[in-house]
Amino acid sequence: MKTYLVTGGAGFIGSNFIHYMFRKYGDTIRIINVDCLTYAGNLENLREIEDKPNYIFKKVDICDEDAITRIFGENEIDRIVHFAAESHVDRSIRNPNVFMKTNVIGTLTMLNAAKNQWELPDGSYKPDKRFLHVSTDEVYGSLPDGDGYFYETSPIDPHSPYAASKASSDFIVKAYVDTFGFPAFITNCSNNYGPYQFPEKLIPLIINNALHGKQLPVYGDGKNVRDWLYVDDHAKAIDMVLEKGRLGERYNIGGHNEKQNIEIIHIILDTLREMLPDGDPRKQNISDNLISYVEDRKGHDRRYAIAPDKIKAEIGWEPEIMFEEGIKKTIAWFFEHEDWMKNVTSGDYAKYYQDMYGVK
Ligand code: NAD
Ligand code: TYD
Repeated sequence: MKTYLVTGGAGFIGSNFIHYMFRKYGDTIRIINVDCLTYAGNLENLREIEDKPNYIFKKVDICDEDAITRIFGENEIDRIVHFAAESHVDRSIRNPNVFMKTNVIGTLTMLNAAKNQWELPDGSYKPDKRFLHVSTDEVYGSLPDGDGYFYETSPIDPHSPYAASKASSDFIVKAYVDTFGFPAFITNCSNNYGPYQFPEKLIPLIINNALHGKQLPVYGDGKNVRDWLYVDDHAKAIDMVLEKGRLGERYNIGGHNEKQNIEIIHIILDTLREMLPDGDPRKQNISDNLISYVEDRKGHDRRYAIAPDKIKAEIGWEPEIMFEEGIKKTIAWFFEHEDWMKNVTSGDYAKYYQDMYGVK
């Protein structure tokens, strides 16, 4: 039985990955989820699997070397999937320090703990051990409108403090591969969307605000482009890289779903109108008049677009869920999980929203 150590498994992508892995492998794998439960970590995301005997949750900070060493002392780990991070660009602009601590020092702590457990006296590694560092396309910086793609060989040129912290952690992983022959992969994925995404990010924020008749804040001219990937496709890619990837390599993961932010907002509004039954009181809230152009994000990257050619050619991964289908699945999930949204938007979220957008 393989043991996976997943960091940040109570967050958006981590929890979807854990669900995906249990759906795929059932009781033939064991997962240890290490998460310190920041504002973005939510154990409700894992309710359905929390009692499984092959699932263990550890409330631990990845920067806490002693606690991480203890977990490695008690468990022989086969696969590490490292999601834990501060992940929101707007927060990184307001408070960069915690991004450097978690994303850079936290990654270093995980690498050292894995290296200590896996390295043999002759400097080689125990067989079949793998560390996958989950990173982002934002490390490549920004593309001009309608021109070019990010390849694995594109220059690393981060702009936001978030992107800089992720680029730094990518370089540290690469240094461990190049210097110590450490068995790692780096994956750089485009914007994800789907169930359990925290409503500080564009898509769940727009869905939630539209349903409540609240303004839909559009930064700048609304024409910035992101390349959207349904989260299950990301989970599948990670699993495939772990099992079929070439050690030491970087793989771009992207959805071929490039859209302007304003297009995303119109698709969400149209899909909400289509999916809400007549007579549902929320339907009358849905209006284009909610769209509100606000001050642009500082240093706002114009366009991200991934060329996922390498992962397709070497590993056979391709996105399965195109945006039109994925957004319907996502909205259906939010309809069915109103309590989830109510819980995550109570308390600190209201303060964050007021500080960030200047309105309630
Ligand atoms: P998220 O913010 O939803 O979740 C992050 C999780 O990490 C939370 O559960 C949080 O509690 C945990 N965490 C934070 N600091 C920690 C610490 N010091 N110790 C232990 N746990 C800690 O993030 P997400 O959107 O699920 O992103 C997961 C990873 O994927 C990140 O590394 C991010 O950079 C990367 N990524 C995200 C996207 C995206 O669109 N969301 C795209 C590409 C890559
Ligand atoms: P976001 O979901 O924060 O992801 P990222 O910045 O990592 O790409 O934002 C996606 C895009 O949507 C980005 O161009 C910023 C924009 N955006 C808005 O226009 N309004 C908002 O309220 C938010 C949160 C984002």
